[in-house]
Amino acid sequence: MTELVRIKREGAVLCVALNRPQKKNAITAEMWRGLYEALETASQDDNVAALLISGEGGNFTAGNDIGDFLAGARSEATDNAPSPGGLFIRALARFEKPLVAAIEGQAVGIGTTLCFHCDLIYAAPGARFLMPFVNLGLVPEAGSSLLAPLRFGRARAAEFLMLAEPFGAETAREIGLVNAVVPADQLFAHALAKAQALAAKPRAALLATRRLMRGDSAALYAHMEAELVEFARLIKSPEAKAAFVGFLEKAKG
Ligand code: COA
Repeated sequence: MTELVRIKREGAVLCVALNRPQKKNAITAEMWRGLYEALETASQDDNVAALLISGEGGNFTAGNDIGDFLAGARSEATDNAPSPGGLFIRALARFEKPLVAAIEGQAVGIGTTLCFHCDLIYAAPGARFLMPFVNLGLVPEAGSSLLAPLRFGRARAAEFLMLAEPFGAETAREIGLVNAVVPADQLFAHALAKAQALAAKPRAALLATRRLMRGDSAALYAHMEAELVEFARLIKSPEAKAAFVGFLEKAKG
């Protein structure tokens, strides 16, 4: 298990924290694998009733590592050879236990799209949500191009996915993405208490309720595959490569 994804048990809650603070928790292939393994562990362990995901060092995540994008780590999208990111995203959508997120600072890319699969989300006042896929020459993923319009309406979703406008914690609460805005110093404890409250419920009833609330996911899974095909096609495009190089050059100074 990688040190870049910290796993800790708090009673029946599996706490998973992205831990690459010097890079704002940008997610490498190794971290995608760690996240995937955490979901698998949580799924298989009967003593785990809920999962809480957060980020160390004041940020949730700056999204997929852009150096990895450039190196082709997310190019393959087929079922035969899924990338670690593709594996995680698929497992996330199929995960059956309650998912809670505590979000501080940057929540870029998957940092926002992961939220569509969570049951309860708490954000610090400084949280910043952003889905910049189009700016990078890519398409949205993790079902967000289906789930964002469903959740916020087409007009709002176009601001977030087509204009790639960022939004803050208060907006996230108003539009129903986030349950509550909680001061940063209380955020983790608050989210953990809620995860533990879920974990204390009658297990079978809670899982069945969650299943019923999610409804038939066949259309979502099919949509996610279509996103991944477009993603894999576009990530090799000159436009996308130029965007990745642009970011990395700027980062070098
Ligand atoms: N991939 C690789 N490295 C990243 C990264 C990413 N997605 N996001 C941040 N980093 C690195 C930066 O290059 C920098 O590295 P350095 O200190 O070695 O130069 C470090 O993390 C800190 O980031 P910095 O850009 O200096 O922080 P900031 O507070 O000025 O800006 C962001 C934060 C998130 C707005 C900015 O880093 C950013 O736009 N990142 C890319 C987000 C993105 O497009 N992700 C892909 C989503 S699909």
